[in-house]
Amino acid sequence: MSNIKLTIDGRTLEVPEGVTILSAAAANGIHIPTLCYIKNTNDIGSCRICVVDVEGMDYPLPACKTTVREGMVVSTTSERVVTHRRIALELIVSGLSEAAWKTGESNELKALCEEYGVTGVPFKAEGAPKPLADSNPFLSFDPNLCIRCQRCVGACNTAAYNHSLRTGKKGVRTIIKAPFGEGWESSICESCGNCAQVCPTGAIKQKARATYSADEVTTTLTTCPFCGVGCQVELKVKDGKIIDAIGANGPANKGLLCLKGRFASYKFVDSPDRIRTPLIKNKQTGEFEPASWDEALTLVTSRLSEIKEQHGGDSIAAFACSRSTNEDVYLFQKMTRTVFGTNNVDNCARV
Ligand code: FES
Repeated sequence: MSNIKLTIDGRTLEVPEGVTILSAAAANGIHIPTLCYIKNTNDIGSCRICVVDVEGMDYPLPACKTTVREGMVVSTTSERVVTHRRIALELIVSGLSEAAWKTGESNELKALCEEYGVTGVPFKAEGAPKPLADSNPFLSFDPNLCIRCQRCVGACNTAAYNHSLRTGKKGVRTIIKAPFGEGWESSICESCGNCAQVCPTGAIKQKARATYSADEVTTTLTTCPFCGVGCQVELKVKDGKIIDAIGANGPANKGLLCLKGRFASYKFVDSPDRIRTPLIKNKQTGEFEPASWDEALTLVTSRLSEIKEQHGGDSIAAFACSRSTNEDVYLFQKMTRTVFGTNNVDNCARV
């Protein structure tokens, strides 16, 4: 693919032919605000927040949908585009319930409104309040906060391949059909929550999000311990407890998480059922009893040594837990081959 030259905000740039103005700008560190767009996931071009001025055009163009051309001259901050963005935001928030909007927590749409001086709901387009879909244990959908940007539909269908969120029609309006109300159990939704993660208004929400505000938590980037894929996850910690997990942009998951990673991977940490000491079976009673690590390890090493001595290394098989880290699993197979003397080793992540 050949390159073309264009000018954005006075800078002459050389970019690959066929890319959009938005990606040409982003690749060169020029910020253009977006709302409905998510790279490779949603490019319906409906919000018009990304508009830019292109020399020779009578009206601003959406940067996420406009392909670069040789010699193009683009302005991302002209007075006209700033006005267009503000009007687009006013129209977008006019479809929201003012009460829901005022009480909701901070989100991407609110941040943009603040930046462009949109302080309330300027036009009234709302009808009767719509019911909350709240039966799903992990996720809820408040249609009164939905701006129909369809990010959630893109995350569900194009990124996570679940195909459970859809757009529909009510009169002349597009609506989002999110199966989180009555009967959600019989829907094909896996409750992965990727829709909630991309929602810019909090219309679709991880329920855990209601238990904290952004300034009450610290964030720790880590690897999801649930299986062997290695998804990157941001854990939210409040008062010394992990209370929420958000997908981070790692090479294996690109911001996505599955149901287990998002809602279960950290819950064992404070689970009352968690086994906190080794247990050794009492041969008389058949019950497991708490033991020290020294006792447990001594028992395990002596029994394995006995078995190896009596029956040979191949009488032992080792099976590693998928919640172990790569490094632990590497050491585990090394120990199996060199200490036990067998190649009978596997990991449940493989199944
Ligand atoms: Fe380009 Fe919404 S981000 S139209």
